[in-house]
Amino acid sequence: MELSEVIQIRKSVRRFADRGVEREKLDHVLDAARLAPSWKNWQCWSYIVIDDRKLIRDLASSGGFVRNLWLRDAPVVIVSCGDPKASGDRYDIPYYAVDVAISMEHLVLAATDLGLGTCWVGIFDEPILKAALDIPDTLKIVALTPLGYPADKAGFYEKSVKTVLGSQKRRQLAEITHFNKW
Ligand SMILES: Cc1cc2nc3c(=O)[nH]c(=O)nc-3n(C[C@H](O)[C@H](O)[C@H](O)COP(=O)(O)O)c2cc1C
Repeated sequence: MELSEVIQIRKSVRRFADRGVEREKLDHVLDAARLAPSWKNWQCWSYIVIDDRKLIRDLASSGGFVRNLWLRDAPVVIVSCGDPKASGDRYDIPYYAVDVAISMEHLVLAATDLGLGTCWVGIFDEPILKAALDIPDTLKIVALTPLGYPADKAGFYEKSVKTVLGSQKRRQLAEITHFNKW
């Protein structure tokens, strides 16, 4: 697929077909994440791939996903972590979060290209997830994403979220762009 098409068709997927993700596709999207640019090329990210469906359900029932309970039925959940000590800080911007976000978006776009669905998830319970997944105290969880083949039809929850958030809408280019000065 052309990159412009991948960018156009990407959307958050919150309901998945009952089918796993092939190992080579998993490796492909993780490799896309690996190739991202980063602060001083320090590559502060690491990823935990959860493909144990019981563990995913246990994390959901123990409150790790907070209200994102739909994650319970995802075949794979990927947890992205950043090491603040392996990145920079400038004008109060912690760049570990920027580094991980860029890397995650590489993963998301590579997944879209393969026909796989993802969804950025920023609401989760970090202490519960860190304890359950043995994530070192020095790391921060930046985001999660499910990974899987989208279900044929969106579920009730997914449709409601999209309606409430107006997920298809974007601000106009003229609204977000300034040339030469604000
Ligand atoms: C930083 C960030 C955090 C998000 N957190 C959540 C979340 O916790 N749960 C959820 O269902 N969607 C979450 N989303 C997805 C957004 O709701 C979604 O990207 C937005 O509505 C636009 O829809 P689209 O991704 O389908 O284009 C998050 C997105 C971003 C970028």
